[in-house]
Amino acid sequence: MAGDHKDTAFAREPTRDSDGSRPRVRIQDAVKSFAGRVVVDVDDLTLGTHPIEGLIGPNGAGKTTLLRMIMHSISLDRGTVTLSSDGDGSEVVLSDLPAHRMARHGVVKTNQVITDFEKLTILDSLLLSVAKATDEWPYRIYREQGLYEDTVEGILWYLDRFEFEDPLGFAKSAGEKKLLDIIRCLLLKPRVLLLDEPTAGLPDDIRDQLMGLIDEKAAEENMAVVIVEHDLHVIWTMSDYVHFMAEGRVLLQGEPRSIREHDTVIEKYLGSGHV
Ligand SMILES: Nc1ncnc2c1ncn2[C@@H]1O[C@H](COP(=O)(O)OP(=O)(O)OP(=O)(O)O)[C@@H](O)[C@H]1O
Ligand SMILES: [Mg+2]
Repeated sequence: MAGDHKDTAFAREPTRDSDGSRPRVRIQDAVKSFAGRVVVDVDDLTLGTHPIEGLIGPNGAGKTTLLRMIMHSISLDRGTVTLSSDGDGSEVVLSDLPAHRMARHGVVKTNQVITDFEKLTILDSLLLSVAKATDEWPYRIYREQGLYEDTVEGILWYLDRFEFEDPLGFAKSAGEKKLLDIIRCLLLKPRVLLLDEPTAGLPDDIRDQLMGLIDEKAAEENMAVVIVEHDLHVIWTMSDYVHFMAEGRVLLQGEPRSIREHDTVIEKYLGSGHV
């Protein structure tokens, strides 16, 4: 797939509707301010009604902050975040949980800026991330042969798919680190995958390959994927539904085409020459 023409490399079937069994994250009456300035003020937003959703908006709109509020990496001034699934009838108030209890609910986020993978090899960093997220005693993975082999096999599946310069050594570039962060999340078999600028720094062919993989996983594993991106090619080709944020608020929601053509989005974000 890598190297195909840009517009078709990860072209996908148009909008698929929700089947109800996919997990959803609902954010209600949620506010976050820094130094007295409100940066997120979300009245009622549901993520995950469609398999792949885009979250877009200008720099500083509050996209990363909103994802961090869902993940508990920053506290909410007020509000509720709930994870629910009609499939198994479950409902968890994520905002009531301590941060370390988040992992077991399958809500996982990649990072806009990658800071780790410096001291560990690609394989060890992935092994450790999986072990840490799934086991209270991470070193068990190195001691129990069966567990070790199964986990390595899962990791090698991803490493075979992407061309790392030195797959059994260290990550070489910012792009490779970014890719590792995303593979780390996929290895956790998330129910909800939040991707914060997943393709920034990736060459086009790897970007297309990665998005193809995300698309495949979203369909196969019934997970909800939310992509925050300024690379709008990714948003328009991948998303079934798009949320548009500006100045801390979700101003519009709809199918990619309607968002792309909306006057407010053009005025506040795209500029008139963009459509
Ligand atoms: N830890 C923080 N302390 C103070 N201000 C912050 C902090 N984190 C974010 N902000 C501010 O909150 C606002 C929203 O930032 P955020 O990073 O959520 O925007 P964003 O939509 O992700 O932007 P970008 O597209 O540039 O990544 C910005 O004005 C930012 O400067
Ligand atoms: Mg951001």
